[in-house]
Parts: sequence; structure tokens; C-alpha cells
Amino acid sequence: MDHFQLKGGVLHAEDVALPVIAAAVGTPAYVYSRATLARHARVFREALAALPDATFAYAVKANPNLAVLKVMAAAGYGADVVSGGELARALAAGMAPERIIFSGVGKTRAEMVKALAAGIGQFNIESEAEGEELAALAAARGQRATATIRVNPDVDAGTHAKISTGTAENQFGVPYAPAPAVDARLAALPGLALRGVAVHIGSQLLSIAPMRAAFARVGELVARLRADRQDVTHVDLGGGLGVAYRAADRPVWPDDYGRMVAEVTRGWDVRLAFEPGRVIAANAGILLTEVVRVKPGATHPFVIVDAAMNDLARPALYDAWHDLVAVRPTAKRMIANVVGPVCESTDTFATARDMDAVTAGDLLVFRTAGAYGATMANTYNSRDMVPEVMVDGDRWAVVADRISAETMMAAERVPEWLA
Ligand code: LLP
Repeated sequence: MDHFQLKGGVLHAEDVALPVIAAAVGTPAYVYSRATLARHARVFREALAALPDATFAYAVKANPNLAVLKVMAAAGYGADVVSGGELARALAAGMAPERIIFSGVGKTRAEMVKALAAGIGQFNIESEAEGEELAALAAARGQRATATIRVNPDVDAGTHAKISTGTAENQFGVPYAPAPAVDARLAALPGLALRGVAVHIGSQLLSIAPMRAAFARVGELVARLRADRQDVTHVDLGGGLGVAYRAADRPVWPDDYGRMVAEVTRGWDVRLAFEPGRVIAANAGILLTEVVRVKPGATHPFVIVDAAMNDLARPALYDAWHDLVAVRPTAKRMIANVVGPVCESTDTFATARDMDAVTAGDLLVFRTAGAYGATMANTYNSRDMVPEVMVDGDRWAVVADRISAETMMAAERVPEWLA
């Protein structure tokens, strides 16, 4: 359930009519619902309430806007970060360092030092070499880095290949077979306090079976590690829960996920951590856009909108489907190809889409755009950086400014020898 609903024939975000935001901020613009974020945060936690002392670390990459992070901090979440920039954001939003987990396959020394200085709660180590570097950096600072080993369970997540992370071919994690030996070698280093295992097999998972299979393998690994040493106290089960991008999608409900996790992890005797991203943020945001014009096409008309692949990259990158609805729908429908203004044919949001009939000047929204939307935006074609708005009941605020080409040019330099 989300808070983007028709009221009096006009699509609202909570109690704010979207045309009000479009008139004040311009389009395209992302609009987030605070109530939806808070609700999803609560539902996910409640689904896992049976597990004692679990840590909830919101995957910042899904939507790193500071206002979004504030909502998550207020909901009792820490953060899963994958860069120095995400770490800075989590700290700026007031997340407690001990609730911050640092994942990512390419942590640089500078980033690891920054995280050690902040006193974060956990590093998820992705290779033996990374573990050795982290141990040395921590020891040089007189610290011991609390860490888990991220294992690659070699389980196919059954999601889009470009967002699958848990097969042996993927670059993520320590391979399953040598993991106990790697664990033993790293556990001996004085700069590390190894405390368990982490896993994350992919994103937008619509089936529970691959998660169950991956977690079961983690359980076997925990048992093997315990045979060598007692201090296996933490397991991080990552993120990955899918959401319904279209009516026919049947996502795994958090309650079913919670039951499966409770079942699979029974007897592990560890503290669990979760890194949800999409399931929290996706349906808490929409991308608001205006129809520039409608142009005849060979088979279907082209609805040309003022949002483009640089604002919402998912369709161009992963052939992703986003539902498209008119802000003031009439009963009329049309079949159209929906495209943005960027000069590439991949700037196509929908092909032969059965959609609300629209004409130039009408407002449309892309639904389920709160995760991996604004955060993946760029300024290709020297387009503005898309602004972000958050709604809370009947009030709203711009939570990220539109950044114009002029502002970006101000950060560029023409060397003297070209002037
Ligand atoms: N933990 C780790 C280590 C991850 O790599 C990810 C996502 C998450 C947690 C959060 O996963 P979620 O709960 O959101 O599925 N840009 C792509 C998605 C990339 C996901 C990358 N890793 C998209 O737009 O679909």
C-alpha cells in the first residue's frame, strides 16, 4: 500500500495534489511520501520481529536523499553503505555509527580509514586481500575492525542478470568452498574481530526459493566455522526483496520472508542483520513528468515526456517496466511508445503501452520510482539534475534542488591555454 492515490480525479501524494508540486517545482521531479517510507520501514521490521536483536540497515544506494535517511533513522534503521559518500550521508542523517555496515567489492583504503575513524559497526569483507588490508589499516590505528566475510553462495537469484550478485561468475563475495580457510586466516589477524558471515544474492527477487537456498548454505557455513572457533555471533542476510512494478508481479510478502528466515535460521544462535533497500523505497516515490508533445509514429504514436533516461535509468539499463498513469486520468486510453528527449533510441520508457490517453501539457507519473531512481540520475545531454520533493500529509518540501547546466558549468574550468 502507498500514499499516491486519486482524490477528486487528481493524483495526490498523501494530501498534496501533484499539479501543485509540478507548478511550483517544474518537471521532471521525484516526489516521495514520508508516510509510505515510514510504513514500509515498520512493516519490514514487524515481519522480522520474532528474531531477537536483529539489526536493520537500510541500503542507502536505493535512495540516499538526506530526508529519506532521516525518515529511516527515525524508524530505528541504521545503514548499509558501499562508499565513502554513502557513509558521509548516513552519518549526516544522524545514524549511529555502530548501526552502519560497510559493504562493497571495491572499498578503497581511504574509505576504509574513513569508516574506521567513524567507528562503524561492521565491515562485510569481500575478499581475502581486502580483509588483510583492512586488518593492517585497523592495527595501524590501534583498532580492531568488526567484520564478517561476505560469502558467494553460488545460488542463482532468478532476477535480471544485471542485478544478480550471488553466482560463482559474479564479482561479489568470497567463493563458498574456500570460505572456511579464508575465515581461519583472517581470524588470526590482530586488526580484525571477525564475527560471522554476510550474504546478498541479488535484487528484485520475486521468489523466495533462491533466498532460502542461499541462507541454508550460509547456515552450513556457520556450522563449519563454529567447529573451528566459538565466536560466530553475527549473520547478515542482505537485501533483495522484490516489489510489484506491474499488477501481475507477485512479490514475496515481508511476512512470508520473515517466516522463512525464522525457519531457516532456527538454532543458528546469532544476531541477524538485514539490508533492505527497494522494498522500503520503491513504492514510496514517483517520477512526475509532463508530456512535451505527441508525435505520430509508424505503428504507435510517440508520447514524448520531459523526463529522460538520465532521470530514470532503469528502463534503459534493465528493460524495467514502470507503470505510467495520468495525473488527471480520463476514461480514454491509448496505445503509445513513451520516450524521453535524449538523443538515443534507448531513451524509451515503454513500447506499445496501453495507457491513459494524454496530450501535450498533461502530467504523467512513473510509479514505483522511489528506489534506484534519482540516485542513478545523471546530466547526460546537459539536462538538469532532477529535483526531489518529499510530502508529509498536506505539507511538502524540496529535498534536493534542481541543478542546472549553469551551476554545473560553474564547476568546470577552461585552462588558460584555451582561453
Ligand atoms: N545489500 C547489498 C550488499 C547490495 O548490493 C544491495 C543492492 C542491497 C543490500 C539492497 O538490495 P535491495 O533490497 O534494494 O534489493 N540498480 C538496480 C538495483 C541494484 C541493487 C544493488 N545492490 C535496479 O535499479 O534495479
